[in-house]
Amino acid sequence: MNHMTAYNLRSAFGGESQAHMRYRIWGEKAEKDGYPTVARLFMATSDAEQVHATLHFKALQDETGDYDVSSRAGFGYGTTSENLQGAIDGETFEFTQMYPAYIAVAEMQEEKAALSAMKYAIEAEKIHAKLFTKAKESVDNDKDLNAEKVYLCPVCGYISLTGDEEKCPLCNAKRDLFKEY
Ligand SMILES: [Fe+2]
Ligand SMILES: [Fe+2]
Repeated sequence: MNHMTAYNLRSAFGGESQAHMRYRIWGEKAEKDGYPTVARLFMATSDAEQVHATLHFKALQDETGDYDVSSRAGFGYGTTSENLQGAIDGETFEFTQMYPAYIAVAEMQEEKAALSAMKYAIEAEKIHAKLFTKAKESVDNDKDLNAEKVYLCPVCGYISLTGDEEKCPLCNAKRDLFKEY
């Protein structure tokens, strides 16, 4: 694999791995703060970031060995409203700056496996940002997020609050595969 694409995939793996952990921490905080549905959104999205990290890791299959990895990642253990803003900012950075730049390099270097992993991620992050924005609006009005369940496509990291899709709109996976929270 070309050096810059491999470097970018490792960085994206690092960013997704940290988002996975951060959302679990913020999910537990949301539960404590009395927002159980926001907590479920954080947990489902945490698992979505694990899906992305796994796609990147597998795309790097022949790139073995130890590397120093640097990734941009948000910190802060605040109120659930503040944590949701942190999540919105992180997702927005990923789909407006990080992935567009990494995808441009991977296209130039004709790295197909990297492109398919990163294209799933960028589209899912846009949805994540929208749902976190919706959750923040509810919390800022002293209400929990209004949803019966939260659904995750375990193939691409797409999240839904209705689960009424016939198939995943991002990757066409069967609706039966969706995980419920
Ligand atoms: Fe995300
Ligand atoms: Fe999907």
